[in-house]
Amino acid sequence: IPVASFDCVVFGATGDLTTRKLLPALFYRFQDGQIPGTSRIIGASRTDIAAETFRERARDAIKRFVPPQDIREGALDAFIDHLDYVMIDGAGEEGWAELTAKLNERPDQVRPYYLATSPDLYGPICRNLASHGLIGEKSRVVLEKPIGKDLKSARAINDAVGEVFPETQIYRIDHYLGKETVQNLLALRFANTIFERLWTADVIDHVQITVAETVGVEGRAGYYDRSGALRDMLQNHLLQLLCLTAMESPLNLDANAVRDEKLKVLRALKPITPNDVQQVTVRGQYGAGAVAGKPVESYATELEGPSRTETFVAMKVEVQSWRWAGVPFYLRTGKRMPQKLSEIVVQFRASPFSIFPEESFGREPNRLVIRLQPQEGMKLEVMTKDPGPGGMRLRPTNLDISFEETFKQRYPDAYERLLMDVVRGNATLFMRRDEVEAAWAWADGVLKAWSDRPEAPRPYPAGTWGPTSAIALIERDGRTWHEEL
Ligand code: BG6
Repeated sequence: IPVASFDCVVFGATGDLTTRKLLPALFYRFQDGQIPGTSRIIGASRTDIAAETFRERARDAIKRFVPPQDIREGALDAFIDHLDYVMIDGAGEEGWAELTAKLNERPDQVRPYYLATSPDLYGPICRNLASHGLIGEKSRVVLEKPIGKDLKSARAINDAVGEVFPETQIYRIDHYLGKETVQNLLALRFANTIFERLWTADVIDHVQITVAETVGVEGRAGYYDRSGALRDMLQNHLLQLLCLTAMESPLNLDANAVRDEKLKVLRALKPITPNDVQQVTVRGQYGAGAVAGKPVESYATELEGPSRTETFVAMKVEVQSWRWAGVPFYLRTGKRMPQKLSEIVVQFRASPFSIFPEESFGREPNRLVIRLQPQEGMKLEVMTKDPGPGGMRLRPTNLDISFEETFKQRYPDAYERLLMDVVRGNATLFMRRDEVEAAWAWADGVLKAWSDRPEAPRPYPAGTWGPTSAIALIERDGRTWHEEL
């Protein structure tokens, strides 16, 4: 279904995110007929290039990041015709008159302003948009993460943006919320009766959330080294996954109804203090090693110098509520892990009593594994009888739903869904100010506890599942990290 005609201004138009994600996402939506012909995508950045050069770069980006078999004949040329470019100084005066003139050509368009720049520019760009009279009822501003590096800086950004945009026109992106399987969590929990009945501390033993990447810092060392895994991944993506797993049923799918419930989870997170930080958190940094058979350098070598930034973090987190009392959430995320894998594992309590003879049965508990990437799907690990005349021998088996097999279609990238939601004005999958700040308030506690007891991150060889202390973190509780059956 086509969305309303729009003029999307992308600040940071020559940057990595625009090239890798935004342009390919917009191209796919265009090719599927969702973007009306009167829409424009206006790149804006400080780079001094002509509109034609920007179009050529966009063409190259799409050829690079969209598989050739997905590009239909003529579609790329038609898409490129919708692109324009303005050289602009987000924080200064240059370029604003030109942008204003272009936008005023079509005053009735929906106007998403996508800020894919450094967060220091969010406030200045918004002030410039306001002073040039570019904010109306149909304008929206999209903020990429990171929204700050702690609660204080997040508040300063939110204040500056909030001075010129009402909260209902601010779209804070966490692209994990645009992933199909993440949205499927809502369907799984609230469109089925069987799981929700079991979703309590009486039945669930613990939950694990793993987001593992094989990549290193990929030329982003400058940003990453000031950030680290807690700020880059855990404060946002992993906490959002935790919220969707742990929240109560929202009243409906309205943006505020969903966000109210996620906020309650964030507020219920037990603070991590200097007293328990060493027991419940592990920081790691990758050394040299091999990923998928290929040798890779250490983080320090990539960075060209020593660093105390963590590229891996594992944590035991508690949600203080009736539903979750006594059910730990183990979170872990890292760069240079053996495989790219994001999953949520809900492990149920072991059966209380066994009628089966000891030798027949490994007592595997049931697990529900929600696989976000790759091979999106879900499986329920259950005990079954081993076929054959050998007597009552049991073994764990999977009830498996592969989304790829079930729905034979391309999985749209998260940004495709999210960009169209911005145009439609649907903020359900975006973060509200109080959510971002609640997540920072909790993460600040961890950062402070770490800085009170400074310890170098534990080394782990690239291509492994993190430092051994991450294994000890969960094994101390008599549990283990999930491994594929
Ligand atoms: C980004 C982080 O938000 O998410 C990156 O800044 C990370 O460091 C990326 O690589 C992971 O996203 P995805 O969609 O590839 O899992």
